[in-house]
Amino acid sequence: MKIVIVKDYDEMSKAAAELAVSLVQDKPHAVLSFATGSTPLGMYAKLASHHKMGLDFSGIKAFHLDEYIGLSPDDPMSYSYYLDENVFTPLEIPKEHIFVHNSDPEQVEQHAREYDRKIEAEGGIDLQVLGIGENGHIAFLEPADRLPLETGLVELTKDTIEVNSRFFEDEELVPHYAMSLGVRTIFRARKIILLANGVRKHDAIRTLLDNKHLDPRIPASCLQLHADCTLIVDEAAYTGQE
Ligand code: PGA
Repeated sequence: MKIVIVKDYDEMSKAAAELAVSLVQDKPHAVLSFATGSTPLGMYAKLASHHKMGLDFSGIKAFHLDEYIGLSPDDPMSYSYYLDENVFTPLEIPKEHIFVHNSDPEQVEQHAREYDRKIEAEGGIDLQVLGIGENGHIAFLEPADRLPLETGLVELTKDTIEVNSRFFEDEELVPHYAMSLGVRTIFRARKIILLANGVRKHDAIRTLLDNKHLDPRIPASCLQLHADCTLIVDEAAYTGQE
């Protein structure tokens, strides 16, 4: 894993956006899979500025990394809503190029089966954007004895529910299940960017970098094996100092 240490959040966002921009310039029909959360917001805002300055995203295909089960796509807490607001609309990605997770509990199994196939049918993911959870998760792949290879339904840990409750009015409202890309699906991405900023992420980053094993209790540890994964981390997350 390549490690790029940058001064702060803005530098992290800029470095991440530049990687995505150069990919899209080289391959206007690239397939991108987008993370949600607070971490990549700065990167997405910078991509929107590049678009305003003329970079065309209309050829790219966009996939969702993960989604809560049970929230409708127009629920402001859903990741569909988030990606629409922060990525798809600002970058003017055509609707037919957007592949979202189906959050309907009734359709979970069929959706999971079809989603990986859709990714393959589009040629596979060229760039996967990832954040990291305080518990070392990537996407909604939570620390466990075994990690799912394929996209499917996952149960959120208590930690993640607690951490993510900051976006909800009440912790009770945080869904307990989600759809997440599987490890193999993520791993097949040709390029991965893992983003981390702020002291809140220091323990996860230290554990990831100090760990000498492939450890499903630190789901991000599998990224150490990927041929083209870049961790872009700010000084606060790297050193643990504000
Ligand atoms: P965050 O979430 O970007 O809001 O910190 C990251 C994650 O949980 O993967």
